[in-house]
Order: sequence, then C-alpha cells, then structure tokens
Amino acid sequence: MSVVLQAESIQKSFGDPPQIILQNISMEILEGEFTALIGKSGSGKSTLLYILSGLDSPSQGKIFIKGKSWSDLSEIEKHEMRNKDLGFVFQFHYLLPELSALENITMPARKSMTLKQATEYAEYLMDEFSLSHCRDKFPNQMSGGEQQRTAIARALIQKPSILFADEPTGNLDTTNGDKVMEIFRKINKEDKTTIVFVTHDPDYAAAAGKRIHLQDGAILKID
Ligand SMILES: Nc1ncnc2c1ncn2[C@@H]1O[C@H](COP(=O)(O)OP(=O)(O)OP(=O)(O)O)[C@@H](O)[C@H]1O
Ligand SMILES: [Mg+2]
Repeated sequence: MSVVLQAESIQKSFGDPPQIILQNISMEILEGEFTALIGKSGSGKSTLLYILSGLDSPSQGKIFIKGKSWSDLSEIEKHEMRNKDLGFVFQFHYLLPELSALENITMPARKSMTLKQATEYAEYLMDEFSLSHCRDKFPNQMSGGEQQRTAIARALIQKPSILFADEPTGNLDTTNGDKVMEIFRKINKEDKTTIVFVTHDPDYAAAAGKRIHLQDGAILKID
C-alpha cells in the first residue's frame, strides 16, 4: 500500500524565546490506515495533527501529503487539495450559525457537486448520523452532540481520501461517541478513507489499526 502521509524530521516551536513543542517527528501513514494519536494533554497531539494536515507549518522538517511536499505547493494547489482530498473535524466545531444543518453539510460541495447530488449525500449522512430531524435547524437549535455530528458530516461530504479529526468524540456521550467511531470504521472500511484522529479514550484508541503515542512532543512508540 502506498504512503499517503509522511512527516520527515518535524520540529515545531512557538514563541520567543522559542519553546520546542514537537521534536524530531518522523512517521508514515499508509493509504487506508486508521490511526489514533494519543498522549497526555499538552503532549502535542493537536499541533501535530494540524501540521500533518497542512493547516499549520512546521518550524523545521517536511510534510508530504499524497507524495507532494506540502510547502512546495502553490496556494491554489493547497486550496484544491484541502477542499477535495482532505477532511477536517476540529476539537471545537465551527458550524456557520446562519446556515441550517443541511446547508452547513453541503457547503464544501457547492462547487464540486450539483445541489441535488450534495443534498442526496447529505441526507444519507444525516440519516447515518441520526440527524434527519435536524435537517432544517440552525446550530443554536441543536444539541452539542448534534452539532458535532453535523460538523463530521460536513467533513465527509466531499468523500475525502484523508480525514483528520481532533477529539471527534470529545464532547459526546458514550452513545454518540460510539456512533461517530462506527461511522469512522465504516468509511475506513467501505470507502478506504485514511483516518488520523486524536483521542483520549483508550477504547477508541484500541479500536484503531495503529496508535502513535506522543510524550512531551516526541513519539514515544507506535503500536
Ligand atoms: N499557538 C501556540 N503558542 C504557544 N504555545 C502553544 C501554541 N499551541 C500550542 N501550544 C503549546 O504546545 C503544547 C502542545 O499543545 P497541543 O494543543 O498540541 O496539545 P494536545 O496534546 O493537543 O493537548 P490536549 O489533549 O489538551 O488537546 C502545549 O504546551 C501548548 O500550550
Ligand atoms: Mg488538543
């Protein structure tokens, strides 16, 4: 299987004087892998996920996404790849308050699909996520879990080849957290979506195919 994501000697520091947050991170993720990033609070999981997904740049080292050196791509190429190939679920979701659940979900696909196609797939995702009753609701009329699931559906509408998720189950109860993990497993299996997610939950980490353990900004082990 081919390597879809590669980190080469990543270092990240913040501030002045610079404080090193990530050090000497090298790793590969293969197409179709289901990988959990785990470690204590402050160990650098979110920072690494942002760098791996091209949303933040490393202070040193290189990231290759689908074989392309991220820092060598033009802004247009990056934008295109972010929109078409990469899906993101953030630790705190960012739904647009003035759009309904359906509109939030179909937003990223407004250029690449017809409205009919986007709506049909969004309705399928809403059904899978038990969100059908929220179709025309605005975010402030939905529960936290419903909003989180809407954000995940939005990340999936373009059928990304790589999905990045920062604690996607963090604000959910067990039932909804399990539901999210089930959906991840399903798209990983059926659509071969490569998934990299951050979790604090040992059971969810155990369910992943691979775990990258971070400690103080460095890889402790991969198992
Ligand atoms: N923009 C920033 N400027 C300065 N320091 C930062 C910045 N972003 C993160 N850090 C620091 O980097 C370290 C790692 O942060 P990060 O958010 O990656 O941790 P995490 O493993 O995701 O933690 P959590 O489980 O609490 O989400 C922390 O000590 C944090 O304070
Ligand atoms: Mg974090």
